[in-house]
Amino acid sequence: MPKILTRPAWMLMMILSLLVALTAYRYLPRIGPLATNVMANRFVDPFLFLHVAGAATALLIGPFQMLAGVRARWPRAHRLLGRVYVLGCLSGGIGGLALALGATAGPVATAGFGLLGVAWILTTTLAWRRAVQGRIAEHRAWMIRSFALTLAAVTLRLYLPLAAMGPLPFVEAYRAIAFLCWVPNLLLAEAWLFAAPGAAPSGSLSPSRAAAGR
Ligand code: HEM
Repeated sequence: MPKILTRPAWMLMMILSLLVALTAYRYLPRIGPLATNVMANRFVDPFLFLHVAGAATALLIGPFQMLAGVRARWPRAHRLLGRVYVLGCLSGGIGGLALALGATAGPVATAGFGLLGVAWILTTTLAWRRAVQGRIAEHRAWMIRSFALTLAAVTLRLYLPLAAMGPLPFVEAYRAIAFLCWVPNLLLAEAWLFAAPGAAPSGSLSPSRAAAGR
């Protein structure tokens, strides 16, 4: 099996997800440094709260849903946390779509974030329906796509400091990032699914063990 996602890469992804999720929660009480372009978004109230509460919770839960220990030992916890993840993605996605419409960087940023929101809602809804239908291999594939999109929050925050240092005016770089933060993630997920169709990410369960745990 080709090792696309090694254990150290998986650990790094988990740590970055937790850091981004926990720091994002500052937008709920609005304490600490807040991005001025985001606070100028005309749909910030009430959609930023809806967006951050749901999206950050999905980002917090997502990595643990892939862990062998949780899925093998506590299948009920996997199902319960899975429902919270789906609700988080839907709330985050609806809030994200509204924020996309008000993005101060203009229509290109609106298109990038808007398409991300649509793709996030679609992949997550399909993943949830496949689990309910007991179609576990398809559930796994759609969840990998959904989580690759949830990780847009991490990749966006890796690109932002690079954009601030780069040659382009920040607003132009930001428009590009509205696409760059998720399209490569989705392509990587597709490459993973293509190269290792039955494999689970490092440290997680194979579909047959996951199904047996249900
Ligand atoms: C994957 C689908 C997502 C979409 C469509 C989306 C969309 C957006 C949009 C449009 C904005 C406002 C940008 C602006 O006004 O210029 C925003 C801001 C924000 N989003 Fe998301 N987002 C997504 C995922 C996430 C996730 C998973 C998190 C979890 C941490 C998150 C946390 C935030 C935070 C904290 C802000 C406020 C500003 C900042 O710190 O960058 N988003 N999002």
